[in-house]
Formats: sequence, C-alpha cells, structure tokens
Amino acid sequence: MAKKTPAYACRECGDSFARWSGRCPSCGAMNSVVAVTAGEAQTLIRASGQAQAAAALLCEDARAAPDAPIARPRLVSGLGELDRVLGGGLPEGAVALLGGEPGIGKSTLLAQVAGAVSRTHAVLYVTAEESVDQVRNRLERLGALAGPSSRLRLSASSDAAAVAGAISSGDFALVVVDSIQLLTLAGIEGEPGGISQCRACAATLVEATKRSGAGGRHATALVMVGHVTKDGGLAGPRLLEHLVDTVLSFEGDRYQDLRVLRAVKNRYGSTSELGLFRMGGGGLQEVADPSGVFIADRDPGVPGSCVVPAMEGNRCLLVEVQALVNPTEVPQPARRVSGCDPNRVAMVLAVLSRRLRMPLGSCDVFVNVTGGAHLDEPAADLGIALAVASAWRELPVPSDLVALGEVGLGGELRPAPRYDQRATEARRLGFQRLLGPGAGSGRGRLVVVRLGEAIEAALG
Ligand code: TYD
Ligand code: MG
Repeated sequence: MAKKTPAYACRECGDSFARWSGRCPSCGAMNSVVAVTAGEAQTLIRASGQAQAAAALLCEDARAAPDAPIARPRLVSGLGELDRVLGGGLPEGAVALLGGEPGIGKSTLLAQVAGAVSRTHAVLYVTAEESVDQVRNRLERLGALAGPSSRLRLSASSDAAAVAGAISSGDFALVVVDSIQLLTLAGIEGEPGGISQCRACAATLVEATKRSGAGGRHATALVMVGHVTKDGGLAGPRLLEHLVDTVLSFEGDRYQDLRVLRAVKNRYGSTSELGLFRMGGGGLQEVADPSGVFIADRDPGVPGSCVVPAMEGNRCLLVEVQALVNPTEVPQPARRVSGCDPNRVAMVLAVLSRRLRMPLGSCDVFVNVTGGAHLDEPAADLGIALAVASAWRELPVPSDLVALGEVGLGGELRPAPRYDQRATEARRLGFQRLLGPGAGSGRGRLVVVRLGEAIEAALG
C-alpha cells in the first residue's frame, strides 16, 4: 500500500504516520510521535527501505545455510560474563547493539573488550563521543593496551560512510562504534541521533558488516552503542532492534557498583543468561561467585522477604522478593510490582485472597525483586506468595529457608525444574531448608503441595 507523505514519526521505532497520536500505532510507545519536516519524511521512507533491505540480507544469510550461525567462528572477548551472554562470544559478521543509560559503563565495557580482542585480532574503535586521547587514556588506565602485540586502532570519526568503508575493507575482525546516535550520513536530513540519521547510519553499517565476509574473507563483527534516554532527545534503540542480530542491555544503578548484562534479542544464542559485573576503579570486574550477589545486602529478620533460588540461564542465582502490605481505605488499592511479572503477582494475590482468606482487596501491595534482578519463572510464585503472606502477618520467613514452586489457581503447588541444582546452590550459601512441592525428600527439603501448607510451614 502506498504510504502518504508522513508528517509525524515515532522516535522509538522510526515508523512514520500522517497523523499525530499520543501512542505510537506501530510499537505502542507513549509520547514518542513527533512532527518531522517534509525532507526528513522522505529520508525516513528511504531509510526504512534500506532497513528492510538490510533485514532481508540477514534473513538470506540464515536461509542459505541454516546451521551457519552456529558454525561461524566466534570472537571471544575474554570477559567470561560477556561471552556467556552472547552464547560463547560474538560470531564473525554479527552485529550487536549495546544499550544502556548514560554513565552505566558501556564505553568502559567496550574499551575492555576492544583491548582484549586486539591481543589476537585487528580491532577498530570508533568514538564519536570522546576524543581519541580520552579513549586512549581510558584504555591505558584499564590496562587494555597490552604491549606491542595490541592491534587496536582508534578513530574519532562521526562519518558513517567512513566507518562503513572501514568495515567493508576487511582489515578488522571487530569494529566498535560509540555511539550510533552521534554518527551522521551525508545527504540525510536531520540531527545526529534523530530518527532518520540514526536509522540510516545503522542500516549503512549493518549492510557493510553483512557484506564484509564476501569472497571468503573473514567477516567483521560490529558492536554499536545505543543510548537509552527517557527524555526522548535521542532515538531509542528499539528503532534499531530489528536491524541487528543481538541486542544487549546493560543495566544497574549508577550509584551502586553492580551491573547486569542481558541479551534482549540474540540470534546466536539464548536470551536467558545474565552477565554480572562490578564497576570499580580498574573498570568492570566480573563477579566471581554470582549466586549470592543479589542477596548480599539482605536483612533476614524483616517480615515481607523471601529468597528464591532462581535459574538465570544455566546458573542458579539466589534472589530476594520483598513485599509490603498496607491496609488502605481507598476503593482501588495500589499494586506496584518491579522485577517480576505483574500478571503473576496479580494471580498470586488473587489466590491468597480467595483461597487463604487474606483480605488483600483492602490493602496496597508492593512487590519488589531486589538488586535489579528479574524473576521471570513461574517457580518464583511461592516466594512471592510467602513474601506477601509474611508482610501481611508481620512475621519473618525463617532466615535459613528458600522457597520454590508454581502456584496454581486452586492453591495447589507445582514443582519446578532443576530442583537438585537449586537445592545444592542454596545450601552452599547457607540456606538449609528448601520449601516447595519438589520431588524426592533429600536433606533439608520441606515438601508441601498446597500454598496453605507452605505458609504454615514457613510462618507457623
Ligand atoms: P562509561 O563507560 O563512560 O559509561 P557510558 O559509556 O555507558 O556512558 O562509564 C561511566 C562511569 O563509570 C563513570 O561514572 C565513571 C565510571 N568508571 C569507573 O568507576 N571505573 C572505571 O574504570 C571507568 C573507566 C569508569
Ligand atoms: Mg560512553
């Protein structure tokens, strides 16, 4: 269908429209639709064609050789936590987008990666944000310029065509671009970081990357930084997600040192692995023993807290769920959830109200997973239920107990996979008792099959 000349576009996904709306009809983002000039609109249409062409190029790759992505050699960064999230390193010819708020540590991470990879491969680090000296100083401080064997080149270009040229030259195994929002492409209207520039630059680099392996040469891998900002001054990474193979998200609290790296999209591996780092004076350090990192600051004697041995990919990490239950007179009590699925919390609250007669309908309920962890598996239900029940009764869950199990609508509990691994990990960190419907009756297992029984066992 022929599109009318659009006069509005979404800052998040880049789609264009003839009419303004408060919510983007394409991606659903709120307040992201902005007016664009006629020239920008034309550019958008062109860029969107380019983006589609690049995406088709990616699909062709996969269709021509279904097992190619797995067989492709991978660049190993040497940062085990990053390689784990990527599924064993970044495949040659792959494009990754690293998103995260300013100041979270994206440039630091990529400086370390560039340094490590340059010990064995040629690497180009393009910085459009800082000067070459600034980047070199940081690399030196991080010990990333390892001796005479380093094959790291720095460039302070912001010209996307020049970067695309460097990618297609085949001279580099890895090209890092920090950041895509500051590149510009000649002939394209709009500010750097605006929708049309951002999309056009990314499409150009992706195309160059996908072509770089032609003629039997080793393909170049590309990592681009994309800032995520709430104020909307820069185009959001969602604009670029469909263009790239892997989208990594770097998260954490700027005022604390723990950083969590996850793959939001990963064409070459799973999206369930987490990478954990600490930001310190010497850059990012991998967290050596991550199982207990999310419960390090826990105060065990406080009501409304329960520890869950959660699986994040192949690892078991102990995660704390906190709840606060507060009676209220208002007709619509508050429900605030962070770090887990609000729908599952709503279901658990309904089961507690209906089956266990807990009057939560007249209470504000807050549920929070601490430390920036996410609890996505249904097996976390029991931990959520116990945290809420503990908050309601103002009785703490015993400090040596972890809980695991899915809650059914009838109040029944269902076992979770990988019970043994979780039990072992919990015990290693000092939790002697594992409460839940798990099969078997090993040491420290408290087997319960109903939510009511579990609450009695935990809170007496
Ligand atoms: P940076 O990598 O510049 O963040 P981004 O590229 O995501 O904007 O990191 C910024 C913060 O990290 C800054 O506040 C300083 C801190 N930092 C350290 O604590 N240690 C270090 O070794 C480095 C390089 C940075
Ligand atoms: Mg930066």
